[in-house]
Amino acid sequence: MQQRIKDILHRGQLGDRVTVRGWVRTKRELKECTFVNLNDGSTLAGLQVVIPNTLAAATPWIKNLTTGAAVEFRGELVLSPGKGQALELHAQQMHLWGAADAESYPLQKKRHSFEFLRTIAHLRPRTNTLGAVMRVRNACAMAIHQFFQERGFLWVHTPIITASDCEGAGELFTVTTLNLAQPPKTPAGEIDFSQDFFGRRAYLTVSGQLEAEIMATALTNVYTFGPTFRAENSNTSRHLAEFWMVEPEMAFCDLKGDMELAEAFLQFVFRSVLDHCAEDLAFFQERIDNSVMATAEQMASQSFARLSYTEAIQILEKSSRPFEFPVAWGLDLQSEHERYLAEEYCQRPVIVYDYPATLKAFYMRLNEDGKTVAAMDVLAPKIGEIIGGSQREERLEVLQQRLASQGLDPAPYWWYLDLRRYGSVPHAGFGLGFERLVQFMTGMDNIRDVIPFPRTPGNAEF
Ligand code: 4AD
Ligand code: MG
Repeated sequence: MQQRIKDILHRGQLGDRVTVRGWVRTKRELKECTFVNLNDGSTLAGLQVVIPNTLAAATPWIKNLTTGAAVEFRGELVLSPGKGQALELHAQQMHLWGAADAESYPLQKKRHSFEFLRTIAHLRPRTNTLGAVMRVRNACAMAIHQFFQERGFLWVHTPIITASDCEGAGELFTVTTLNLAQPPKTPAGEIDFSQDFFGRRAYLTVSGQLEAEIMATALTNVYTFGPTFRAENSNTSRHLAEFWMVEPEMAFCDLKGDMELAEAFLQFVFRSVLDHCAEDLAFFQERIDNSVMATAEQMASQSFARLSYTEAIQILEKSSRPFEFPVAWGLDLQSEHERYLAEEYCQRPVIVYDYPATLKAFYMRLNEDGKTVAAMDVLAPKIGEIIGGSQREERLEVLQQRLASQGLDPAPYWWYLDLRRYGSVPHAGFGLGFERLVQFMTGMDNIRDVIPFPRTPGNAEF
C-alpha cells in the first residue's frame, strides 16, 4: 500500500517495505548510487531515497528522474548513514508517473523570492514555505471548527451572493448577468438592475454577519466560516479582495462575553497549531521570522491587554512616536497606531473597545454615552487588526436611527429590523480574518503568500 512520507518518517521501522509516491525535490548522482529527495506534501522533510546503480541501469526512463518529476518508489527502509534522517528508502522498484521538463521547470534549487513564486502559483505549493503555509492553514481551520463544535456552536452556511452591504462601506463587487455592452437603462438613465438576474442589484458578500444574526436568534450560538469579498483598492500586505472569514454570533451575549470568546478562541487555535504543526512552525521560526515560536506560545497562554478607544487615543497622543497619520478622538486608528499599541505599548495582543459611533458600522450597539458603540478590535503585533466585532444593536428604534444617521435606506434591511420586532435579545459576535491569522502565526510578510490563489487588484490568474 502507498504510504505518506510523514507516517514513514514518524513511524517507519527498520526493514519495513514501503511504497511512496511524490515529486522529486533534488537528485544527487554519486559513483555507487543516486540520492533522491522525495516530497509528497504530508510533511516538510522529504524522504531520502537511495537508488542503486543496478536499478538505475535497468530503468529506461532514468534520464527523466529529474527535479519536479512525479515518481513512485518501492523498497525497504534501511538505516541512513547520512545526517538528517534516521531511515532512508532503499529503492528496489520505481515507476515514473509524470516527467518534468528539467530545462524549463521553474523551481530550481536556489531560493526564489515570494514575488516570483506568486507568478507561478500553480507550482509554488511544491516549495517548502508554501507547503508549510498550507499545512498550518489546514491546522488552523481544523482548530477553529473544533473550538466551536466543542462549545455547541452550529456551523451555518451564509450566502455568498447578497443584496445588502453589511459593513456599509460600499466596497462591493457587483454580480450581474446584464449585457455590459448595452445594459438596460431606467428613465433616469441609470442601469436598470430590476432586469438583472436577481431582479435587483446583487453583490458578493463582505460578511456573513447579518444572516448569522438571523441564525443566532434561533439557534443561540452559531458561526460561519467562508469566503468574503471586498472591492477595496488597497495594495497592502494585509488586504485581499477575496479572503476567508470566521464569524461567531451569540444570542444573550454582550461585548464583554464577545471579548472573552475572542481571547479564548485565539488561545485555543494557537495551542492547537503548536501541538499539530510544530515542525512547520519551527521552519517559519528558522526561515521567516525568529519570533514565531515565542509569539505562538504567548498567544496560547497569555491573556490579552484591554484598552478603551479613549484610553488608546490618550496613549497615542502621549507617545513621542512621529506617526504619519494624525491622532485625535474621533479619528480611526491606522495600522501604525494599532501596531504601536500592540507591539510597543502592550507588547502583546490588545483588545480596543468602545469606538466612536461615527467610525463604525450601523449595527453596532450604541453605548450609554450616546457617542461610542460597543465595538471591539483585536490588534495583534505586526499585523494590527485581526478581529473586528461588536455587540449588536437590539433596540428597534435605536437601530432605525443608526441606519438613518449613516444615510442608509432602511427598506432592504426590513428582515434585519424584524429580528428586533420578534424576540429581540442582546447578541454579539466578531469576524476573524482567516488569512491575517495565518499570517500572524507563520510570520509571513505578505498576506498573498498565505492563501493558495490570492485575489488582489489586478490579479486573478490561476
Ligand atoms: O472588521 P471587519 O470589516 O468586520 C466585519 O466584517 C464584521 N461583520 C465581523 C463581525 O462582527 N461578524 O472584518 C473582520 C476581519 C478584520 O478584522 C480582518 O482581520 C479581516 O476581517 N479583513 C480582511 N482580511 C483580508 N483582506 C481584507 N481586505 C480584509 N478586510 C477585513
Ligand atoms: Mg474592522
